Amino acid sequence: MPDQKPVSNMENVPDLSRRKFLRVLGIGGVIAGATGLGAGTWLTTRDPVEARHPWTQAGQGEDVRVRALSYAVLAPNAHNRQPWSVDLSERDIVTLYCDLDRRLPETDPFDRQITISLGCFLELFTLAAAEEGYGTRIALFPEGAPDGRLDARPVARLQLVVGQGQSDPLFDQIVARHTNKEPYDLARPVPGLDVEAILAASGAAGRLRAAGTLEDDRIVALRDLTWRGHEIEVFTPRTLQESIDLMRIGKAEVITNPDGIDLSGPLFDTLRLSGLISREQLADTSSTAFQQGLEAYREMIFSAMGYVWLISDGDTRAEQIAAGRAYVRMHLEATARGVDMHPLSQALQEYEEIAELYGEAKQVLGARPDQTVQMLARIGYGPQINPSPRWPAASRIRTT
Ligand SMILES: Cc1cc2nc3c(=O)[nH]c(=O)nc-3n(C[C@H](O)[C@H](O)[C@H](O)COP(=O)(O)O)c2cc1C
Repeated sequence: MPDQKPVSNMENVPDLSRRKFLRVLGIGGVIAGATGLGAGTWLTTRDPVEARHPWTQAGQGEDVRVRALSYAVLAPNAHNRQPWSVDLSERDIVTLYCDLDRRLPETDPFDRQITISLGCFLELFTLAAAEEGYGTRIALFPEGAPDGRLDARPVARLQLVVGQGQSDPLFDQIVARHTNKEPYDLARPVPGLDVEAILAASGAAGRLRAAGTLEDDRIVALRDLTWRGHEIEVFTPRTLQESIDLMRIGKAEVITNPDGIDLSGPLFDTLRLSGLISREQLADTSSTAFQQGLEAYREMIFSAMGYVWLISDGDTRAEQIAAGRAYVRMHLEATARGVDMHPLSQALQEYEEIAELYGEAKQVLGARPDQTVQMLARIGYGPQINPSPRWPAASRIRTT
């Protein structure tokens, strides 16, 4: 049960919006010069619309498995790596694999977050199949669960059973759900009843527990904790570099690789063209690009108006999958209620430098030392945002 005390404006939040960032840099003129277009015209063409097509094409295809897949690929997933790949060669069966090249070895050394992401995928697949009346029987790790990291064996075997699926209202939210990474409105508390409904929608039971808070003191503690987690990640060169390698800077890069960290839109294309942002600058913690990124992240983290999280008793692959299924259900319910949600996983990660902070996170979140905090997300109300890029569903089907 969340504490329902409304949160007040407690933090001294830096006043840095993207628009102000552009104005401060005073580089509007660069655009016209570099592109030969009027700045206004050029700015309106910067959205990588092609990379968002999977959001409008969901539900198409001859085969129910392909239609369900087209919704499943819209699942939230760590760093938007989209680690799924499916085999459809067996009739009425979908075999799900992890695309092993899409893991995050530095920040997710045991593939825990990648497995959670595959759980999100499985839940959306199930919801989409049920919408057409099909039940989905899922056998996890049908050839055995790996002892260590994920391997080439299947993560799940899904059998569609006609007439066994029951439509779930959360299905309607799949194409409306987006992770809102913008600052949230500090003047708009989240109603306690909405948080209760979000936690209930998780379906968490048994060895998995969903919890949340709207309580001032805990919000202050969690803002601080998630901020320190971010600082550790970006000041640890190898974990920073992992993110930088996944950054898609500007429209062209996003269209070529519709995954990873999307830095598209007029602001980033302008900065890129004017030489004010590059991978090298972002890796240099003394550069303006890095410092501005840090400030933007700070504004976002310190605008959390509440949190929800998931704790599991153990940390088996099955529990990670269950956490993913529960997480995406919470996010779909939040979407139905107009509440924005944004996971902040830095303090929950398993690399050496973050271990002490993770211990602190468990304490603040009420987890025992032997339990695992699988997900932690801030909630609130952000501005409207675009859907994140996706590879088309067809490109995730194995051909051999
Ligand atoms: C296991 C997991 C961990 C995540 N951790 C973070 C995080 O630490 N920071 C963040 O900004 N987003 C995080 N996300 C959200 C993803 O970045 C987001 O789902 C992805 O970019 C796709 O965007 P979408 O959810 O809007 O479709 C996480 C998502 C999952 C499933």
